[in-house]
Amino acid sequence: MPDIKRRDFLKASATAVVVTSTCLCGLNGCSTFTKIGHTQEIKPEALVRKGNKLLIDLSKEPLLSRVGGAVKIKNEHVPQGIIIAHTEENAYQIASLLCTHRGVEVDYDHKNKRFECASLGSSTYTLDGQNIKGLAKKPLQKYEASVSGNVLAIRI
Ligand code: FES
Repeated sequence: MPDIKRRDFLKASATAVVVTSTCLCGLNGCSTFTKIGHTQEIKPEALVRKGNKLLIDLSKEPLLSRVGGAVKIKNEHVPQGIIIAHTEENAYQIASLLCTHRGVEVDYDHKNKRFECASLGSSTYTLDGQNIKGLAKKPLQKYEASVSGNVLAIRI
């Protein structure tokens, strides 16, 4: 058996403490701490604001052209942020972007047709924004939208 000196033992123990106290999802930045989810920002060229409406040219945003895709908008037009999910053919669901527990961004989970907080708290919401499970107790805000041709109009 190798002879381990006290100093080497303490060094190894300190390293182990640092490793075990780091969040396992921290390799790419843990959403619990960064508050940023996995949903991509909308392409700026796909978005125009007219009064209280956001007009999205679906032909310029590939992530929204397919069912199951989603994007977020968090800019000067919508500082609080919204998430847009293409849930079914010609059907889009728009909700506020931030989980009502501690403000981590939510993502769209197409397999289960719901919004899910990206944090370890994992609060989940129906497509209507209602709470399903998790630490969040308040619903997400929903936004009205309509589709005409290639344009998705969202009332903000
Ligand atoms: S911030 Fe979403 S569950 Fe805590």
